[in-house]
Amino acid sequence: MPSSLLFGLAASLSLAVPAYAGFQVQCFSRLFDERLDPIVNPGKLSGHVHVISGGNGFAATMDFDRARASTCTTCNVRDDLSNYWTPKMYFHAQNGSFLPVPIVGDNQYGNMGGMVIYYNDNRGDVPTDTIHPFPPNFRMLAGNPFKRNVTTDEAGQAVHMKCLGDGGNVNYPGFPLRKCSGGIRAEVVMPSCWDGVNVDSPDHKAHVAYPVGAVEGGRCPPTHPKRLFSMFYEVTYSTEVFQDMWPGSGSGSGQPFVLSSGDPVGTGFHADFLNGWDVAVLANAAASCQNTLTPNGNRCQPGYTGADKVLRHMTDQGEAFACKLPSVSGERPNDVLDTLLGCNPLTDTEAAARAPTSASTSPSTPTPTSTTLANVPLPGGGSFTDTTPLNFSYIGCAADDPAARTFAAGSKWVALADMTVQKCIAFCRSSGNYAFAGVEWGSECFCGNALPADRAPAPGAVNKCVKPCNGDGEQTCGGGGAMSLYKACGAAQECVNQPVLRRRRGLLFA
Ligand SMILES: *[C@@H]1O[C@H](CO)[C@@H](O)[C@H](O)[C@H]1NC(C)=O
Ligand SMILES: *[C@@H]1O[C@H](CO)[C@@H](O)[C@H](O)[C@H]1NC(C)=O
Ligand SMILES: *[C@@H]1O[C@H](CO)[C@@H](O)[C@H](O)[C@H]1NC(C)=O
Repeated sequence: MPSSLLFGLAASLSLAVPAYAGFQVQCFSRLFDERLDPIVNPGKLSGHVHVISGGNGFAATMDFDRARASTCTTCNVRDDLSNYWTPKMYFHAQNGSFLPVPIVGDNQYGNMGGMVIYYNDNRGDVPTDTIHPFPPNFRMLAGNPFKRNVTTDEAGQAVHMKCLGDGGNVNYPGFPLRKCSGGIRAEVVMPSCWDGVNVDSPDHKAHVAYPVGAVEGGRCPPTHPKRLFSMFYEVTYSTEVFQDMWPGSGSGSGQPFVLSSGDPVGTGFHADFLNGWDVAVLANAAASCQNTLTPNGNRCQPGYTGADKVLRHMTDQGEAFACKLPSVSGERPNDVLDTLLGCNPLTDTEAAARAPTSASTSPSTPTPTSTTLANVPLPGGGSFTDTTPLNFSYIGCAADDPAARTFAAGSKWVALADMTVQKCIAFCRSSGNYAFAGVEWGSECFCGNALPADRAPAPGAVNKCVKPCNGDGEQTCGGGGAMSLYKACGAAQECVNQPVLRRRRGLLFA
């Protein structure tokens, strides 16, 4: 694993002070950056690009069942297949171009950083309140994408940007008007009081509320009496990468960062949540993770004895990295852009931000915001190579064991320094027309004719086939004790490699 990513996560984890009540969902990675928001713009492209973590059921149109049908998640709690998303950030260069701002954990190997979601048990002076689990189909958002000014009301208190590094970590209501040597961590407190009835509302906010007098920890108002976990999102944008590219020498006015929505102020930062929890597990966590001063408290954080009795944690970050989704819009939000995707001019007032975009600013190819987007079939987890031309189909990530091989008696194997999926299939074909070809640990190739049922790929299982092939870093060649497994399709049979999920760089996700 790249050390920068591990470092970033370690830094986040250290924020958990010992007396912490609640738990964290560590989203090691993200599914993709995409112009989707199934809460605000179901079935369509949304107005601006989001950075999106959580279960791979995420789609333009989705409900709780689809979230629960996710076959992998970018976050570390297996019982949580929710989705979490916030706006993407760009650096506005002096020549007018918009450069994507990386998130801590992004690297040149294709890994994407994620976010940390704190599930805070913060019941203020009413410790007897019950924390209710989010019900099926529950969703909500916090913040206002159109907001462009600084306010001290709840909206202003719930969202801020923390300038990390020199001078201590200081909170700002929007983009700090100074350079932050450690980047900017956007932080959002979600509402933690619920009306107890509605899982959503027309503005996606009215069914929930902040506690009275404070965004965290006060009493829930009579209109919204049911206490929820107080969720706190942290997304760290590596703005320091652009430290030497700020325009001019001014200390304030040259603030060069913008949100994907066309917000150069930063007060329009917002966060969305779509529940995908195993509700019974979350209910148990609400009852069990309340107070770290009790023997039960620590049970909910990985690393503590018995933590997995409450929440099943993923310890292999590779599983989260392998969980990705292909582009839906076909847009490239991580390229250098001439205009913000969705055609969002920079606006510094709420009125201007709400004004419909004028036709003259539309790109030559109109974006299909009104076209209903069809959902792609839910992928099975793990990436694969389209081997249809070789008459082989990817069938999934199969288990292997160096001490008791999946393909044992009479089978062939080879290790190649320049292994690729195609080379393994060619080897298994030339060694005796084997039915199966499995690549493992980047360089090993195993051939066989019989696949034991207990080693077969399990549909929907979060898998370990995450290692790039030694001969082609864009292909996946299994992992530790795991084979990316391909099966001969035969002449009469059609090879199924789901070309609908093809990704730009030749990777496919099954
Ligand atoms: C504008 O400047 C940025 C940063 O130097 C660069 O990456 C980008 O390619 C430039 N855009 C154009 C259109 O030249
Ligand atoms: C912020 O903007 C809103 C809407 O544009 C306006 O109603 C409000 O008065 C503004 N507040 C301040 C402090 O400028
Ligand atoms: C794949 O199958 C087709 C149809 O049987 C055959 O014509 C073709 O030669 C095969 N390709 C390879 C690479 O074996």
